[in-house]
Amino acid sequence: MNRGRLITIEGIDGAGKTTLAAGLIDALRARGIDVIPLREPGGVPTAERIRDLVIDPELPVSARTEALLYAAARAQLVEEAIEPLLARGTWVLLDRFIDSSLAYQGGGRQLGIDAVRAINEFAIRTACPDRTLLLTIDPGRGRSRSHSRTRELDRLEREQDDFFERTVAAYEELRSQDPQRIRQIDAAQAPEQVLQAALGELADLLPDPS
Ligand SMILES: Nc1ncnc2c1ncn2[C@@H]1O[C@H](COP(=O)(O)OP(=O)(O)OP(=O)(O)O)[C@@H](O)[C@H]1O
Ligand SMILES: [Mg+2]
Repeated sequence: MNRGRLITIEGIDGAGKTTLAAGLIDALRARGIDVIPLREPGGVPTAERIRDLVIDPELPVSARTEALLYAAARAQLVEEAIEPLLARGTWVLLDRFIDSSLAYQGGGRQLGIDAVRAINEFAIRTACPDRTLLLTIDPGRGRSRSHSRTRELDRLEREQDDFFERTVAAYEELRSQDPQRIRQIDAAQAPEQVLQAALGELADLLPDPS
């Protein structure tokens, strides 16, 4: 049996990742693909508990602790869910994954992409994304999209503009290092256009329609 594909969606807060994930799940299933959506950080109970801890603005969490907690949540998600699914041929669509840590903790928090990559490669082992859809949008526009939601802001969402500029720059650096895997999509477009662009960037992975 063929191993499933691991597809990740990345981009800053409010870019439209969760919106695209919902549309993409339906579009992939309509093409006959067995695909499961998972979110990061979380997706399995242990990782959900780590998520609650890491996003709580009331708790002191240092930058290194934050990076390690995200990596720990990711390691559990990989072992408990992603690897078994891929092994049985199921595709996994992930709303954020390793590149979020490289961009937010490596770039935004200034821990350095390489340092954060080292702990994350330890965490994910062989679960490297087959394709990553990077939604790009002006940080201010992303923020105003996020702020239109009503819930309280989490730890990362409370950061200032320079944090998001560093995060955007890190995402761009990652894309330029690996343009075959990481495909940029203009997230200022309407949701339907974003979905069509995403399907275009996955075209070579999709089964023949026949
Ligand atoms: N292409 C789009 N055009 C206009 N509005 C959009 C688009 N995509 C998403 N939105 C809206 O913007 C808001 C943020 O979208 P969404 O939750 O998908 O972003 P996200 O990248 O998952 O954010 P977060 O990083 O905070 O989880 C939502 O209210 C959503 O309906
Ligand atoms: Mg989201």
